[in-house]
Amino acid sequence: MSLMGILDRVADTATFDKAIEPARRAVQAALKPQTFKDLLHGTWLGHPLHPVLVQLPVGTWTSAGLLDAIPPLRPAATALIGTGVVAAVPAALSGAADWSEQGIGVRRLGAIHAMGNTVALGLYVGSLVARAKGRGGLGRVLSYGGLGLATGAAAIGGHMSYAQSSGASHAATAARALSSDWIDCGPLDDLPEGRPALRKGQGASVDVPLVVVRRGTRVDAFVGACSHLSGPLYEGTVQQVRGTDCLVCPWHGSAFDLDDGQPRRGPAANPQDKLEIRMQAGRVMARLPGRDR
Ligand code: FES
Repeated sequence: MSLMGILDRVADTATFDKAIEPARRAVQAALKPQTFKDLLHGTWLGHPLHPVLVQLPVGTWTSAGLLDAIPPLRPAATALIGTGVVAAVPAALSGAADWSEQGIGVRRLGAIHAMGNTVALGLYVGSLVARAKGRGGLGRVLSYGGLGLATGAAAIGGHMSYAQSSGASHAATAARALSSDWIDCGPLDDLPEGRPALRKGQGASVDVPLVVVRRGTRVDAFVGACSHLSGPLYEGTVQQVRGTDCLVCPWHGSAFDLDDGQPRRGPAANPQDKLEIRMQAGRVMARLPGRDR
């Protein structure tokens, strides 16, 4: 079995779920208010923030590992380790916020990812203390141990992103299956006022759910699978969120601006793919704007 196959096996193992669920609730209770949590998710950025923030600790710690191998450059290595320790705090907070809103398989691997990084952080703090006390040899042993653990934890994080699609836009994945043809969403008069309606778009081999919202004569249409975790947006609601009319997901409450599909409330950080609309003999026609997908 490949290493990544072992991770998949771990993601299917429920042994530690009794510990993971209270931890998830504790994270959700600690990361309040919602605006703070959305800041950590990257909702304001339209992109998950965690992969952006981790660049600093990963980069500084890796560079420190190289500089530690060259004796005259060791003071610079110590400065980089300190920078990485400080930068690891917001990176960990944003990761915890995302982790608390993921499915159970991602949460299981995420718990191991977090534990590995926490121990690595502890080793780096210990390394700084040892270096401050003039015990440079011990400091280097601890920091190289931290680098090894952080690298392993990063590999698990990569598996969560690439194999488990945590942080990926599930709406973009669904949009990729849509053809570029105009889709007949039926007569305007059949659409309910101010409520999401389900329509089907033609995909390459399967129909793709769309969500269509009518407000007076205005119609907005989006891919029906929520960008966060594929929740059915056509079963959601239309609400005012932070001053804008939004489509709200029934699963975790993400809110997408009806005007442009940008997330206005998390946990979603990715926008919702929006279709362009034209009216044809009283019928609503929709299609994805032309672009490479
Ligand atoms: S699936 Fe999580 S907010 Fe939509």
